[in-house]
Amino acid sequence: MEPLSDQEIQFFKEEGYLIKKQVMDPGLIALARERLWDSASDTMDPKDPDTWIGPIEEHRDDQGNVRGGYGWKYRQIGSQEWIVRMLPRDLTIWSMAEKLLGKGNVVVPDRIRGIYCILPQGDQPEKPTTCHTDGHPFHLGVVGYIGDVPPKGGGFTVWPKSHRKLYFDYHSSHRNEPTEQHEKDIAYFNQQTYVDCHGQAGDIIFWHHRLAHAAGHNRSRQIRQAVLYDFRRKDMDQVMEEPPSQDMWRDWPGIC
Ligand SMILES: [Fe+2]
Repeated sequence: MEPLSDQEIQFFKEEGYLIKKQVMDPGLIALARERLWDSASDTMDPKDPDTWIGPIEEHRDDQGNVRGGYGWKYRQIGSQEWIVRMLPRDLTIWSMAEKLLGKGNVVVPDRIRGIYCILPQGDQPEKPTTCHTDGHPFHLGVVGYIGDVPPKGGGFTVWPKSHRKLYFDYHSSHRNEPTEQHEKDIAYFNQQTYVDCHGQAGDIIFWHHRLAHAAGHNRSRQIRQAVLYDFRRKDMDQVMEEPPSQDMWRDWPGIC
């Protein structure tokens, strides 16, 4: 069976993202949820949701772990073999990435970004959600939920179709060199409707590297828990300095 249907590939091309439900291994998800607490602050109790509400004190260690405000990034765990196997090296997820970027073209991952959490905001007033694009070099992002994410629960938030505009708003195809137009287009997309990709543990979201996105505000009572990885083609070093290709799908053999 094909890892992605023609319809799904078409959706990704047009909208810049794609949700696949119930993909990651439940046993590994349970392990990730358990291990997350190894990096919690002393003030947080895994059994007491009242202690999960942000903002929390700023903390940064030499393993790259960062906590503060409503964010909690456990990066150190990203190099564990089993967590890499849960996301980019999961056989299904890997075959989907290879389907889009071409078999044999994708860098074999040795780590993921880590477990990225967004803490509940409690009774803080709600702020508007604004978008950005990422500047670091990659082709295909993937977000995987290791806990359920209800609507307005800090889900990965996307501005559909924005990749088709923003891809051309950089001087190079994969470096962080936005043109003047970039800021104007971000302002434009901030006036447009966005999609809150809520979901359940095991769901994943693929997204194009120049898609406007945001980490949604978490208005729920639970912690938004996700794992992140960025797929890259092996020829990144050669293509990253080039100006955006006229055909923005040139490096995506699975997309025509
Ligand atoms: Fe981002």
